[in-house]
Amino acid sequence: MSEFIISEEALRRNAELLQRVAHASGVHILLALKAFATTGCFPVLRSYTAGCCASGLYEALLGAHEMGGHVAVYSPAYAEGDLDRLAEIANHIDFNSLTQWERFAARCMAYPRVQSGELQFGLRVNPAFSTGETPLYDPCRPGSRLGIDITLLPETLPVGISGLHIHTLCEQGAQDLIDTFRVLEKRCASLLRDPSLRYLNLGGGHWITQPGYEVKKLVEFLYGLRERYNNVEIYLEPGEAWSIHTGVLRAQVLDVFESMGFHHVILDISVSAHTPDVLEMPYRPDVFLTEKTGASSSSLKASMPAVCLPGESYYRAGQAGDTDYTYRIGGISCLAGDVLGDYSFPRKLMVGDILMLDDMAHYTIVKTTHFNGVKHPGISLLTLDGRLTPLRCFGFKDFKNCLG
Ligand SMILES: Cc1ncc(COP(=O)(O)O)c(C=O)c1O
Repeated sequence: MSEFIISEEALRRNAELLQRVAHASGVHILLALKAFATTGCFPVLRSYTAGCCASGLYEALLGAHEMGGHVAVYSPAYAEGDLDRLAEIANHIDFNSLTQWERFAARCMAYPRVQSGELQFGLRVNPAFSTGETPLYDPCRPGSRLGIDITLLPETLPVGISGLHIHTLCEQGAQDLIDTFRVLEKRCASLLRDPSLRYLNLGGGHWITQPGYEVKKLVEFLYGLRERYNNVEIYLEPGEAWSIHTGVLRAQVLDVFESMGFHHVILDISVSAHTPDVLEMPYRPDVFLTEKTGASSSSLKASMPAVCLPGESYYRAGQAGDTDYTYRIGGISCLAGDVLGDYSFPRKLMVGDILMLDDMAHYTIVKTTHFNGVKHPGISLLTLDGRLTPLRCFGFKDFKNCLG
């Protein structure tokens, strides 16, 4: 049976680094729930994070009730009823447009938690400065609907607004943030110096836990920012950085056959339903063949997926043609494009073999569907003591309940 496995050790490794950055720079680092929201892992993350970043009411409820701490909400638009409920649990509510703020300003100012300062409001700014490469993930791409066009901002903060929010990065480095903030300082200096400004949210996309990220540069930049804007609290809300290299998806080979000039493998998962970013982005995940330790491993390359189970060793699959055993790995749905890619292995694949798709915690578990009625992978946590603790199993009822 297929299963997502998350490693507590890897989660803590990421979280410790993020906490070090927060402590050294004096900023608050939130977990963006859109990237990773497995509540069974919140007890691991709770002591490291300042709280959560939510994309709307449901994530805010999850953050407030299951994680605790600060709740920062940004949504491209709010419905009245949602805003009223958010006002009871959120600490920051950031607006995407001046029209939404103007529509709701009076309502917002009347919420009881505003007087005590527990609830503050902000505006998301679009600095129109792209540093990323993938248009799908670039909020500054031409014609973007995300954030207020920097050229249309007022000179002073509207009454009731005490925060500014930017989110422009995706899997990017410290220099990209520095360059983006420079644009902001150049083009909305008066807003950054406005005496009503209380918080600055620098969004997500900071790839802080990715090897090679310039952590020292980020800390120095953030520290300097706090000195320049000393009345302002600074927030970062990465998602990926908490959860990259922390999880895998294990899948079983159900069939191996030849057709239309290819050797095909069918797994018990669906690429479309369980790893949708592979098709959406698109990208090619690393795949590992799992062998029981003790099995003939002469041709196995020592290699490490994000999660290793005791008693197993792993072979990283190569490009098509690297060995004599190349397979087109496909999912079990009837979608023609439900294909992971072509991979080569050190031996023939057989029914029952376990393949491990690497790095499948972030933006994967949160995006799964029950498409085609494919059995949903379970979710387990590999705890520090080496125990595999099931967090959730899914069955027919879960499939049926989400269909109405
Ligand atoms: C507003 C906002 N904040 C934070 C994030 C988290 O970004 P990441 O997971 O790349 O760090 C996103 C991602 O899309 C976002 O849209």
